[in-house]
Order: sequence, then C-alpha cells, then structure tokens
Amino acid sequence: MTAQRIDGKAFAATVREKVAGHVARLKEENDIIPGLAVVLVGEDPASQVYVRSKGKQTTEVGMNSYEHKLDVETSEADLLALIDQLNNDAKVHGILVQLPLPKHLNENLVINAIDPAKDVDGFHISNVGLLGTGQKSMVPCTPLGCLMMLRDHHGSLSGMEAVVIGRSNIVGKPMAQLLLGDSCTVTIAHSRTKDLPEVVRRADIVVAAVGRPEMVPGDWIKQGATVIDVGINRIERDGKTKLVGDVDFASCSESAGAITPVPGGVGPMTIACLLANTVTACCRANDVAEPEGLTA
Ligand code: GUN
Repeated sequence: MTAQRIDGKAFAATVREKVAGHVARLKEENDIIPGLAVVLVGEDPASQVYVRSKGKQTTEVGMNSYEHKLDVETSEADLLALIDQLNNDAKVHGILVQLPLPKHLNENLVINAIDPAKDVDGFHISNVGLLGTGQKSMVPCTPLGCLMMLRDHHGSLSGMEAVVIGRSNIVGKPMAQLLLGDSCTVTIAHSRTKDLPEVVRRADIVVAAVGRPEMVPGDWIKQGATVIDVGINRIERDGKTKLVGDVDFASCSESAGAITPVPGGVGPMTIACLLANTVTACCRANDVAEPEGLTA
C-alpha cells in the first residue's frame, strides 16, 4: 500500500480562510478586531522565525498583532508586569509567551500568570485541568491541528486504537486527552515503554511527537494505519541540511493508509490553530457565538 498524503499546508489554508471569515464578521457586526500579543524574550533564532511568522499570519487574517520583544536579561518581575498589562488590555484577546524562556525565568510561573481566557497556547494549569475533565478550554495548538486533520480524514474516531509516542505537556499529553475525548482507546508511549514496536503495531492512529529524527520505521506501522508526524528535525544528509519528522516517511508510507509529510503536514496547522484559538477567545470574551469546527 502507498499511503495517502495528508496535506497540512492546504488544510491550514482552509482553517485560515475560516478564521478570516469570522474576523470579518466580528468587525462588521460587532465592531471588534481580535488581537494577539506575542511575547519573545531573548534572541533564539528559531523562536524569532516563529514569532515573525505568527505576526505575519495574524495580520493576514485581519487580526491585530502586538509583538513584545524583550531583552534576554529581562527580569521575572518585568515579564510578569507585562503579562499583567496584557491581561488587562481589552484589545488583546490572546497572549502567547514564546518558549523556551531563558533559564533564569520560571516557565510555569510565567505561563500561569496569563489570564486563562487569553491563554491561546492552552498551557495554563486551568486549561490543562479543563481539558482533562472534558470541559470547554483553550486547547494547545499542535494537538488541536492533529485532531482536526484526523477528524477530517476519518470522520468519527470512536473506538479507534491510538498510540501517542511522547509525553510532553505541549503535545503528547494534550493529544492523548483530545483522542480520549473523541472516544479512542489511548496509549501514551515514551522512552521507558517496553517493546515499543509491538505497542505501536496495535495502533489505528499513531501520533509521533518525540523529537528524534526518523525513529519510527515502517514495520512498526499496522497496514492501513494513519500516521501523524509532529517531529520537525533538522539533519545533515548527503552534505545538505534536510527537515525530517519522527517517522521514516519512505518506509511508513508503504504500510500506512495515510500519513502527514514533513515539512507540509502538522507544522502549518500549528499557527493556523493559534489564529483559530485567538478568534475563539475573542468570541468568548465578547459573548459572541464562537466559530464551529475551529475548536475541539
Ligand atoms: N515553542 C515551541 N512551540 C511552542 C508553542 O506551541 N507555543 C509557545 N508558546 N512556544 C513554543
């Protein structure tokens, strides 16, 4: 079997179009422009690229983008003061603090200082708890994007065996909660899992989010399974720099029924879902009906 490629780039474009439609309606009918504030501390090159891309896509869908670039030596007190100011700014509906933060800043403390209603990353402890108990919450962007692609491909996920490889707070754990919410039987596998190949072979859905280049070979994948590759790893091959995922795309394409490529799979969905979360947060803050199909 040669797997169908799930085109995340095209799907992300449809999500952005929906977001832009809702933004236009909010402006016209409610005189509201959704606003997203992104805070970057320091000059990590990868983070700078992400933040620029977020700002550009935010304005492209008609929302306001507020960028706050702070010196690498910014104190915790100053960062918390900025978050407090953004929490109290009615023009700001979403706040994202780019991670990782410099070592002297306590990430948990900073994330939990964000108003949960504006926490478009879904990392605040309140949102984690709401998601875990099946209540309305802000949902982390990457797992939300994966869920949207899975629902689009399968319709219902009910009763499917899902294996999530990786237990991070950003992807693995919330992904597992979302799949459970859609009535999958969910296993979270990780570096200490015994006989990982056999565990993965049970899966109708495999979500790989470990950050190890091409660690999942095709013979771990059940015939016809759907493979969602969250990994973005930069490797050197044949003297060139190449982006690869956490699964070996060539061999997994032989056994999978459908698979996301890297690049062009999960990656573009993350920022699209950030925009979706910002519109959702804006609608909730203003008691306006929130868009359908853009939340979990
Ligand atoms: N750094 C890498 N991914 C993310 C993300 O999804 N959100 C934030 N805030 N920082 C990140």
